[in-house]
Amino acid sequence: MRVESRRVSVLLPQCHYDIVIGSGILPSFSNFSAVQLKAAHKIVLLSDETVAPLYAAPLAKQLNDMGKQLLSITVPAGEGSKSFAVFERVLEQLLSWPIDRKTLLIAVGGGVIGDLGGFIASVALRGIPFIQVPTTLLAQVDSSVGGKTAINCKAGKNLIGSFYQPELVVIDTDCLETLPLRERRAGYAEIIKYGLLGDAAFFDWCVLHGQAVLDGEPQSLHHAIETSCRAKAAIVAADEKESGVRALLNLGHTFAHALEADVGFDNRLLHGEAVAFGLRLAARLSVQTSGLSAAASKQLETHLDALGYPRGLKDLVAGHKFVAQQLIEHMESDKKTLHGAKTFIVLDSIGAARELRGIPDSLVLSILEDA
Ligand SMILES: NC(=O)c1ccc[n+]([C@@H]2O[C@H](COP(=O)([O-])OP(=O)(O)OC[C@H]3O[C@@H](n4cnc5c(N)ncnc54)[C@H](O)[C@@H]3O)[C@@H](O)[C@H]2O)c1
Repeated sequence: MRVESRRVSVLLPQCHYDIVIGSGILPSFSNFSAVQLKAAHKIVLLSDETVAPLYAAPLAKQLNDMGKQLLSITVPAGEGSKSFAVFERVLEQLLSWPIDRKTLLIAVGGGVIGDLGGFIASVALRGIPFIQVPTTLLAQVDSSVGGKTAINCKAGKNLIGSFYQPELVVIDTDCLETLPLRERRAGYAEIIKYGLLGDAAFFDWCVLHGQAVLDGEPQSLHHAIETSCRAKAAIVAADEKESGVRALLNLGHTFAHALEADVGFDNRLLHGEAVAFGLRLAARLSVQTSGLSAAASKQLETHLDALGYPRGLKDLVAGHKFVAQQLIEHMESDKKTLHGAKTFIVLDSIGAARELRGIPDSLVLSILEDA
């Protein structure tokens, strides 16, 4: 059954833009982006090696047929492309083409392409317009919305970047048909997160429909993506630069980043897989620190178990042994750590989250050891 396209608006003090969500909408991309395309004679299409033949190439043909001058740039798939080396190479290609201030950059891919493309757009000629076309579930519900852009460096992940909003986000759920289940499961972790941190009714909906979302059932998938985008749009509108409520989006992430850092940020552990495990640990921490009921924490864990997420740290990454003390050390270099105090997002109940600092290491350590 076909689901109608929907629009979610992101309303910020300096700008606003739409997120268009639909099924099979990429073939009529120009209908959704008429205003943005009109001003641009030149367009840069940035994608990765997996996504380029699937989704960027057909888009290139459409734009060519409209008489636009195109530069298609393809980078290797994976986190490695959020690097200085790739950033420099792509930027040099753009500047020597050359681009002008009206050149539009379209980032077609997952969170890696969105983060890299957004960062490049924010610095090229001090800022050129860009459109996000997210093709992973994680990018459709999280990374393409809100304007955080970044690359990684030796000192850590996402440490170099900017806040730079896209002109438009075009989400075609049909792209998810080619996305492996492992990647869809990783994206779903960010979906449940919105229920946990601010919408108890949506969490209840996830418990009932999570499997259908993973299976790609159209109505459920659209509802999950739209609700997530609305939640993120509202939070970003209230706090674009993360000086307050936006920090709640980091629920589960203090644990997740420590797990990812321990593995070395490679694809043995996807970001969303780390977040799913981080949500379990954040719920256990919340039971001990902020009154989340044990029953609510159990409900989350039962849901994650039912969808096939690993239950214990030993099952998270084949052949990798996590050591609790080492994970605590990773948290010390987390960018959310302030004046040496680790920051956690905890739940008072499902749907009510807050930031908490000053939790004793001994408590965090015991939670990690139990896991
Ligand atoms: N900016 C933000 O607010 C924000 C939020 C969360 C995560 N992130 C970042 O997002 C990145 C992770 O994003 P991701 O999980 O999308 O990873 P990704 O971009 O690496 O994509 C995952 C894999 O799926 C492939 N792929 C993408 N779309 C596909 C499709 N439709 N069909 C088949 N294969 C497809 C890619 O080639 C890649 O191999 C991380 O770098 C993380 O830091 C940013």
